[in-house]
Amino acid sequence: MNRIAVILIASLGSPTIDKGRSDVTKDDGDLYVFKVSSLRNVAMTPPYFHDGSIATLPEAVKVMGRVQLGKAFSDGDVSKIVAFLKSLTGPLPKNFAEVPQLPPGGFKP
Ligand code: HEM
Repeated sequence: MNRIAVILIASLGSPTIDKGRSDVTKDDGDLYVFKVSSLRNVAMTPPYFHDGSIATLPEAVKVMGRVQLGKAFSDGDVSKIVAFLKSLTGPLPKNFAEVPQLPPGGFKP
């Protein structure tokens, strides 16, 4: 995982910077580490990124281009990438909306 890139994403939309997995594990090695979600059915799962800070798929693609690849995608490129991402839409897995099972003691709200 590209941690520096994730730090930039972490500072995009949230009022405070999320420290990621290290908040749970208390391990500095996990600072700014976030689970990267699957892109399967991504067109159906806004808002985007770990903090839900980006509302639309075209905007999320532009952010990815800029932050992860250092590229400014043209509107045409964004449309093509979004069309591809929409092609990843299919039947939802049965457990799509289930609350995830967290490790015992792993998270205390
Ligand atoms: C054209 C290339 C790319 C596209 C279209 C793309 C698309 C996306 C989208 C749509 C999301 C949001 C998923 C969601 O919230 O459900 C995402 C998240 C993410 N992607 Fe990419 N991505 C690209 C390249 C990359 C690259 C090259 C990296 C790493 C080097 C990367 C790392 C991540 C990470 C770490 C997240 C989660 C970030 C967070 O939750 O804050 N992506 N990507």
